[in-house]
Amino acid sequence: MDRDYIISQAEILAKEKMKDYDPGHDWWHILRVRKIANIINDEEKTADPFLLDVSAILHDAADSKFSNSGKYSDLDKFLQNKGVPCDTSLRIISAIKNISFSNKNPSGDLKDPLFLILQDADRLDAIGATGIARAFSYGSSIKNPIYVPPDKNGIIATSTIRHFYDKLLKLKDLMNTSTGKRLAEDRHEFLEKFLQQFYSEWKI
Ligand code: ADP
Ligand code: NI
Repeated sequence: MDRDYIISQAEILAKEKMKDYDPGHDWWHILRVRKIANIINDEEKTADPFLLDVSAILHDAADSKFSNSGKYSDLDKFLQNKGVPCDTSLRIISAIKNISFSNKNPSGDLKDPLFLILQDADRLDAIGATGIARAFSYGSSIKNPIYVPPDKNGIIATSTIRHFYDKLLKLKDLMNTSTGKRLAEDRHEFLEKFLQQFYSEWKI
């Protein structure tokens, strides 16, 4: 297995797949997730650094939110075509498939450190200042309002601020690794500070 070749081919594929995604899911997101995953693994030392790199690079290349993205079977073919053994390719695909917050039916090895670290890294990039920027970017790409106050029955309409409660504020407690948990604290606090400031400005 030529590791440098596989990494460079994966980078080309991911760049191509993500060029039409929203700015919250662009190549910079991939670079950030790869870096955070490496930082976690430097402390945890539980994942193979090469597999973690390949998984981070390809983790959004078959995202179902984006209609032009490929399928997992295509990704598997791609990896095997570049010389990745079948069982290794399946392991990478399984980690990638399971990381989504919205994936209600995970399958495969959910204790694989490859998956646990990758999911933490992806989740860390969804919180903190970066996560806030990404949420408003994605929210605007699907034309969601920034915020809608609750109606007279207390019903809260869809908005990017609501997404904080639906997902972002929950991520801190969903971290898998102790390094991920530690890195999430600061970012979580920043979400709370942001919301406080937002509501105080809203009520002016
Ligand atoms: P997952 O695949 O883990 O469910 P997503 O890929 O949906 O997570 O989330 C990726 C990014 O898009 C995150 O930063 C997330 O906060 C943002 N995002 C997803 N759904 C929404 C939404 N309805 N409003 C605002 N941001 C969103
Ligand atoms: Ni991602």
